[in-house]
Amino acid sequence: MPDELTPAPESRLPGSEIEPILTVPPVVGAPKPNPILAVDNLTRSFGGLRAVDVDHLELERGVVTALIGPNGAGKTTLFNLLTGFDRADSGRWSFDGQPVSSPSPDLLARKGMIRTFQLTKSLPS
Ligand SMILES: Nc1ncnc2c1ncn2[C@@H]1O[C@H](COP(=O)(O)OP(=O)(O)OP(=O)(O)O)[C@@H](O)[C@H]1O
Ligand SMILES: [Mg+2]
Repeated sequence: MPDELTPAPESRLPGSEIEPILTVPPVVGAPKPNPILAVDNLTRSFGGLRAVDVDHLELERGVVTALIGPNGAGKTTLFNLLTGFDRADSGRWSFDGQPVSSPSPDLLARKGMIRTFQLTKSLPS
């Protein structure tokens, strides 16, 4: 009987692709071998509340990365900034090696930065 928790062989990453990331120390902000996204000094405040304050963040290409944190930690706000749905107070980031100079959702989506939303909305018509 197949083990339901084991991915099908064709869905596994070849070892040569996943091996480099395994050498990265599990430290916040650690440089990655082949980052698809790199973020520096990103901040966003709502009044006196600093919702996002990222010194440095890199996401590895071709690897599933999870961002975890308690309610209100700033996860959605970070996604909103990076995908152009909100404006950062400061900071810069690059996607696929290109600096993101005009972070509008449509331009970023065309470059391949696709997102989902926390709350689903039906289309009434
Ligand atoms: N548009 C806004 N105006 C004012 N405050 C906001 C706004 N958006 C987010 N916040 C505040 O910023 C903080 C971070 O919120 P955010 O939604 O990013 O957290 P989260 O990590 O996604 O939380 P959850 O796990 O509940 O989804 C919270 O204190 C939230 O109330
Ligand atoms: Mg959220």
